[in-house]
This record gives sequence, C-alpha cells and structure tokens, in this order.
Amino acid sequence: MTRTIDIAVLASEADEMSADCYVVVDVLRATTTIATLFEQGIKSVTVAESEATARHLARAKGALLCGEVGGLPPEGFDLGNSPVEMLDAELDGRHAVLFTTNGTRAFCQVAGKGAVLAGALANVSAIAVAASGHESVVVVCAGNAAGRRFALEDFATAAQVVQSILALSPGAETGDAAGMAIETWGYENWIAPGLPQQTDRSGRALRGSSHGRRTAELGFAPDIQFASRRDTSGAVPTVVAFGDGWALLEDRRGNSS
Ligand code: MLT
Repeated sequence: MTRTIDIAVLASEADEMSADCYVVVDVLRATTTIATLFEQGIKSVTVAESEATARHLARAKGALLCGEVGGLPPEGFDLGNSPVEMLDAELDGRHAVLFTTNGTRAFCQVAGKGAVLAGALANVSAIAVAASGHESVVVVCAGNAAGRRFALEDFATAAQVVQSILALSPGAETGDAAGMAIETWGYENWIAPGLPQQTDRSGRALRGSSHGRRTAELGFAPDIQFASRRDTSGAVPTVVAFGDGWALLEDRRGNSS
C-alpha cells in the first residue's frame, strides 16, 4: 500500500527526493521502448548514460545495441529507439543495451536510491500494481535537455501513473506536483485511449509537445500513436543491478516489489 506519492517534474529534482520506489517515465520514447522490448521477449535491457558506454557494454555482452542520438540510431547500432520497430525485431531470448538522450540517463541518476521501475502508458497498469507495493513512490519525468527541461508528455503520463496508483492506494498523501497532476484532468483526457475522439486527443497531446513535434518530423508518428495506448505491455521493467554509467533492467512482472 502506497502512503506518499509525488512527481519529480524534472529528473534533476529526483536528487532532492527520497522514496522507496522511483518510476522513471520517458513516454517518447525510451520507457515505451523498454516496456515493448520485454513484451516482445527480450531477457534484459541495460540502459547506458553515454553512447560510448553503450557501445562498450553491447560488445562485451554480445547484446543488441539500441538507441538514438538526435532521434536516430547512430552508425553501427542494431536498432533505434522505436517501440514500433521492436514489434517486428527478432528479440526473443536476446539481451539489449539501450542509449537515449534523456531516458536512459534518468535511470542512472536514480539507480541505487530505491526500487527503480520503467513506466509508460504502455505498461501503466502493471507499474501501478508494482509501485503500490511500496510505501513511498516518486514518479520521475525524464524530461528534455538531459533532465533539465520540462516535457509535457512525461508529465501527462506521470499524471496517469499517479492516478493509477491512487486507485489502488486511495488514501495516499500526494506532494505538490502529484497533487497538481491529479487536478489537471485535461491531461488525463488528452492522453486517455478509448473513444476515437479521445484517441485523437491523445495523439494531439503527445505530438503537440515539443519533443512529440520533433519526433513526428523525423518520421516517427507511428511511435507517438503507439506510445499513447495504455497497457500494450504487462512488463514491470526493474533495475536489478547498476554501476558507473549503466543500470540493468529485468522484467519482474508478477512480483510486488
Ligand atoms: C530520450 O531519451 O530523450 C528519448 O527517448 C528520445 C527519443 O525520442 O528517441
């Protein structure tokens, strides 16, 4: 049962917040990609803080090298950071190393502070159940500019994570940012799937954010549509080990902590 819940609106805020459980959100696209990788059968995902670390770890582990710089896979990468691309990739039983501009850094920032999970709309219900096993939860928005700038799409998704946890722990006390998220019901409607009208609003909210616009311009509009959908994955990606500049995630679905 969760007793307190808040949102780190910027990843850098998480340094000042302590909790038993941190849910990292980078809905466009790192955490959507991670939830999808596990749904498609990947065994582990190692997130890296730098491209150089990712290349080194992938070589050492014989893992698939995935990720983006400027939204696109750098030369020599096996796959990008596109959840839709993962749907057709041969992943079963493989290990992946992922480097992205903001999302993977956010994991390295909070690794070791408590339980660390990867959350997106794609796995919001599974994450809410897992997070509810912890007394205090902070949802960490990966944001833009290496976690120093606000990202609408991450805040809107964090609002849904908070609401889903509160549905399971109704009496939980909310911090300022979580309280604000609950009050902004507009965001809930914009990104809620369901009615065609709401699905359109969902696409608008994610594509309308500054990062969403850039992502669409790069030709990844299908990723935005996919990332807007709730519960396409039951994965609970959880940090199980970490070191200097990396964190290893495995799918702990079915575990409450
Ligand atoms: C990030 O980490 O900044 C994003 O996942 C980038 C992207 O959309 O590929």
